[in-house]
Amino acid sequence: MPESSAVQRGLQDVVALESRICFIDGKLGRLIYQGYDIRDLAARSTFEEVAYLLWYGRLPSAEQLADLKNRFGQLRILPEPLVERIDQLPIDANPMDILRTAVSALALFEPEETKPGASSIGGAQRLTAVLPTILGHFHRRRRGLPALKPHPELSQAAYLLYAILDTVPTELEAKAVDVALILHADHELNASTFAARVTASTLSDLYSAVTSAVGTLKGPLHGGANERVMELLDEFGSVNRVEEVVKAKLLRHERIMGFGHRVYKVEDPRATILRDWSRRIGEAKGDLHYFELLRQLEEVVHREKGLYPNVDLYSGSIYGLLGIPNDLFTPVFAASRVAGWTAHVLEEYQDLRLIRPTAKYVGAIDLPYVPVGQRA
Ligand code: CMC
Repeated sequence: MPESSAVQRGLQDVVALESRICFIDGKLGRLIYQGYDIRDLAARSTFEEVAYLLWYGRLPSAEQLADLKNRFGQLRILPEPLVERIDQLPIDANPMDILRTAVSALALFEPEETKPGASSIGGAQRLTAVLPTILGHFHRRRRGLPALKPHPELSQAAYLLYAILDTVPTELEAKAVDVALILHADHELNASTFAARVTASTLSDLYSAVTSAVGTLKGPLHGGANERVMELLDEFGSVNRVEEVVKAKLLRHERIMGFGHRVYKVEDPRATILRDWSRRIGEAKGDLHYFELLRQLEEVVHREKGLYPNVDLYSGSIYGLLGIPNDLFTPVFAASRVAGWTAHVLEEYQDLRLIRPTAKYVGAIDLPYVPVGQRA
C-alpha cells in the first residue's frame, strides 16, 4: 500500500496558493480586497470600482471608471441564438442551472476568449456585464413577459434590479444592492473560487472556469443559506415565536442558517453592514417585520449557542423587501462573485501550476480479475 500523509478533510486550514486579491482576518473580523477594507469600499465605492480593483489590483481613475461603466453597458446584450436556446429550456428549472447552462453556451459565441491562454480581462468584463441579463431574461420568460430591453446607462446594481423587476429602482434600492454586490464580490479561496482556479490551472478558459464556479456555488452549503433564512423567518411568523422555534431546532441539533463561519470567529463584517441596510430598506418600505425577527433571532442564537451572524443572515431580508424572489438569491450572489472568480482565474494564469492534490488510497488492492461470465 503506498504511503500517504495525513488527510485534511475538506482541505481545512490547507494553504493552497498565494494570492494578492483577498484577505480575511477571522479573529478580528476583517475582510480586505487588494489592500482595501471592505467597510471603506461598502461605504464609499461602487461595484464597478470594486470589480476594477479586483481585476487590476488598483482603484480606477475617474476616466477608467467611466470607461468600465460604458463597457458594462455595451456588453449586456446576449447573442440572439443564445436567447433562443435559453427560451427552449424548462421554465420551472432552477435559475442556477439556467445560469450555468447559459454561461457555458455563451462561450460558443466568443471563440477568441476560449482558446487556451487567450482569456482576458475583456472576458471577465463580458461575463460580469451579462449575468444580470441572463437572470432577467429567464425570470421574465417564466412570468410570460417579453424580452428584456437593454438599459446601457444603468449601474450594474440598478441594472440587476431592473432586469429582475422590470422597473428602474430608486437610488436607495440600487445602493442597497450595490453594497450587497460589493460585499459578495470576493471571499478568498471559498469553494466556487477554488473550483474556478482548479479549472483555470489546467489552462482551460475563463468561461469553463466560471461554469465550474456557478455549479459549485449552487450547493446549499455554499450559496444558498440566505434563502433558508427567509424560510425560517416565515416559519416564525411573529417575534414571540422566535425563541421557542430556535430552541426546538437546537434541541434537534439542527443548524440555524445565517450563523457561524469556518473562518470568522467573531461577527462577519459583511453581516454588520447588511444589518444596517436591512434596517434602512425596512424603514424605507415601512416594513420592519423581517428586521425585527432577525434581531430577535440574533439575540436568541447568541445567547443559546454563542454564534455570530454571517453574510447570509441579513441579505435575504434586503432582497425580499426589494421584490427579488427567493430562488434568485443565489444567482444574485453569482452576479457579484463573478468579479472575484474571474480575478482569481486571471491571477491563476499569471503563476500557473496545475492544481492536482493526491488522495490517500483506502480501497482494495491486487484483487483477482474474474471474467464476467464467472461472476456471481
Ligand atoms: N447553527 C447551530 N449550530 C452551529 C451552527 C449553526 N449555524 N454553526 C456551527 N454550529 C455548531 C455546530 O453544530 C458545532 O457544534 P458541536 O461542536 O456542538 O457539534 C460547532 O458549532 C462547530 O461547527 P462546525 O460545522 O464544525 O463549524 P464550521 O466552522 O466548520 O462551520 C458553517 C461553518 C458555515 C458550515 C456552519 O457555521 C453552518 O453550517 N452555518 C449555517 C449555514 C450558513 O449560514 N452558511 C453560510 C456561511 S457564510 C457564506 C460564505 O462566507 O461563503
